[in-house]
Amino acid sequence: MPEQASTVAAKVDALYLFLLVVSVFFGTLIAAVLVYFFVRYRRRSDDERPPLIHGSLLLELTWSIIPLAIVMVVFFWSSKVFFEVHRSPPGAMEIHVVGKRWMWKLQHMNGQREINELHVPAGVPVKLSLTSEDVIHSFYVPAFRVKQDAIPGRYTSIWFQSDKPGRYHLFCAEYCGTKHSGMIGWVTVMEPHEFQNWLAGGAATQSPVAAGEKLFKDLACVTCHRADTGARGPNLTGLFQSDVRLADGTTVKADETYIRESIVNPGLRVAFGYQPVMPTFQGVVGEEQLMQLVAYIQSLKGEAKTGAPAAEPAANQPQ
Ligand code: CUA
Repeated sequence: MPEQASTVAAKVDALYLFLLVVSVFFGTLIAAVLVYFFVRYRRRSDDERPPLIHGSLLLELTWSIIPLAIVMVVFFWSSKVFFEVHRSPPGAMEIHVVGKRWMWKLQHMNGQREINELHVPAGVPVKLSLTSEDVIHSFYVPAFRVKQDAIPGRYTSIWFQSDKPGRYHLFCAEYCGTKHSGMIGWVTVMEPHEFQNWLAGGAATQSPVAAGEKLFKDLACVTCHRADTGARGPNLTGLFQSDVRLADGTTVKADETYIRESIVNPGLRVAFGYQPVMPTFQGVVGEEQLMQLVAYIQSLKGEAKTGAPAAEPAANQPQ
């Protein structure tokens, strides 16, 4: 087993060990009984006819109820671990991850960029928001027992907290082409003060939110997405995580994926009360810029004022 270097590692291993023990126990038991019955009930002569058996309720209940009990234990136990791994605690440090054949591009919230290297502080929950520029990749750090696909056109997330400073191998765990095996790197867990020094020593770069705000102006998004009622597009303040009513009467949660979709494919799910006049930005902005735009829109906190006649109020929910 690889080193246990995150808060969930021991829990994943305990579940894995349980599955292994149960499988080995029943696998061995079944093999042993099989061999025993081969010998015990072998045909002793050509005219030997075994007695007819029409079933046994007790036996059938036994072999149904025992496996049911075991799989229910596995189900609830693994669900608990799954939710723990996938629901990041509030206030987790966010990092943007873009997979690209064949490298990992990462960006910290102060703007610092890294490629195939990730530096994080020890003792702090870290939330990764992942997407891909081309094909499916998978961000895998065995020592953290954390693996999450990076999928083109969608945002996924995973979180971890490591309390052990050190260097841990990072892999791509989804076959993505010729140099898939070279799509590797390192996650460096540092003492918090060392991490602050490292972060301060980086090249001065714009934070994703600031870069997104600049893009929002440069791409002239701001001309339509204004606060006044005459605006051609919905006002985006307080949009993130609110329920958006669509033209067909259904609602959609304005999460990262919906916001991204509305930029690259705006005609697909138009907010109620608006005309599908927005041009697509597919190919105009790359995945990293999309992440910056989403980060900026995410930062526009406040009352949802979409200006649309039947807009739903903002329902801020923790992720
Ligand atoms: Cu990226 Cu395999």
